[in-house]
This record gives sequence, structure tokens and C-alpha cells, in this order.
Amino acid sequence: MEVQTKLLKLKDWFEDYTSGFYSNEPMVQQNIILKAEHTRRVCEAILMIGVSLELSSEDLSIAETCALLHDIGRFEQYKRYRTFSDHKSKDHAALGADVIQNLHVLDGIEPETAEMIIWTVRHHNRAALPENQTSRGLLFLKLLRDADKVDIWRVVTEYYHRSGNQRNRSIELDLPDTPQVSDAVYDALMNRTLVQMSDLKTLTDFKLLQMGWVYDLNFPMTFRIVREKRFLESIRDALPISSSRVRDIYKRVQAHVCESSG
Ligand SMILES: [Fe+2]
Repeated sequence: MEVQTKLLKLKDWFEDYTSGFYSNEPMVQQNIILKAEHTRRVCEAILMIGVSLELSSEDLSIAETCALLHDIGRFEQYKRYRTFSDHKSKDHAALGADVIQNLHVLDGIEPETAEMIIWTVRHHNRAALPENQTSRGLLFLKLLRDADKVDIWRVVTEYYHRSGNQRNRSIELDLPDTPQVSDAVYDALMNRTLVQMSDLKTLTDFKLLQMGWVYDLNFPMTFRIVREKRFLESIRDALPISSSRVRDIYKRVQAHVCESSG
């Protein structure tokens, strides 16, 4: 079966599968909807980036399939552990790869392609890109990681600016909402490197970590989307204005985006 044909069936399967996790508990329901909506938006973003690279329609379908399935483990994770924290439960990417395999979700397409998609899902949340992988597998992983970040920026910036801010602990990681920027966070971002999760001490650190994802983007189109959607401005506006560290970091990440958006 062509991936394009399979993808149509998979979209129906996705709706069926995820609606099986619906709940009468409002918080649970909200989080399930949040992840399903995130998935749809990552599909849109990956197509936008893929088109900018002039990928074939077959490759666009493979990319979209990766996006559709990338967070499929989130639903089982939330059902079992009531959290999206991999640290406090299980790696949602590994869980997702298991779901795809156990439920034979990709049956019917070429086994090599199915394996590549599962590999992409399994690795999408790693701290860095793996080195020893064929360029083809790596292409889809890069696409997925960029598209995923684009939509996480949408989710978090909408959250930071929502009026009557109802806290959602699953987004804030339980960090204290204080203005301090930790030394390790400052140093990493000024050196144009990613912040380690283990260095986070405050919610301010976490917002800055999210700004720093621009150091982990792969394609000019993604940088263009970041500029157009004004994600960095939006995160900055949710940070303490008086902090000179915040200003330094903001300038540095903006410079990186300007240089990279082509
Ligand atoms: Fe995601």
C-alpha cells in the first residue's frame, strides 16, 4: 500500500484511538484534547517545512505519518501515570513506538518505511540528534523535531498569555515562579547551546530553555516560522523585564534566528 493511502486510514485510526481515552474528568479530558490538537498542528507544520524543501509527495506523506504518530505514546502514558513527565513515568517516545508495533498500526506499508517511521517516533524526544543513522532516517527525524518545536512554542506561548491564567502543572513542571536566571542556563544560552533540564531551578529558567530551542532547529523554513509567529517575543513578554540576563539572552537567540532564517 502507498503511504499516501495508508495515511488517510491512519487519520481515522488516530481519531478512534485517541477518543478511547476521553474521560468525564475535565482535567483528563483537557489534557487528551491538548495532545490530539498538538498532533494535528505538528502535521501541518511538518508539511509546511517539507514543502519548503520540495520533498516528493511520497516523502511528504512519510513525514506527515511521523508527525501523526510521534506522540501516540502520550495517551497511554497519561492513562497509566496521569502525567506527561517522562522523568516521573516512562519515556513517551518508547511507549509510542511500542503502541505502533503492538497494535500493528503500520501494517500494509513497506516494512522498511514502517521501521523508519517507528525509529523516528522512538528518537524524536532525544536531547540531541543521533549520529550513526542513514541520511534518510535523519531527514524525517529533523523534520519532526522542528515541527514539534513549532507547535510546543504555540502551546506554551498561548498558555503564558492566557488571561486569568489557570495554572496547568503539566506545562510548568512544578518549578517555582521566581525571576532568577540560573548561571548554567545563562552560560548555555549565551554560548548558543541547549539548556539541560537538570539545570532548571525556576520557571524563568524553563521559559529561557524554550527560547534556546532555536539552537536545535534544522531548516530555514522553521526559523522563518519562528519569526513570523513571533514566538521569541511572546516568551520574552512573559519574562521579568528588569532582568539584564533575560535581555542578553533574548538578543543572542534573536541574532541566531536572523542569521539562520535565510
Ligand atoms: Fe510533540
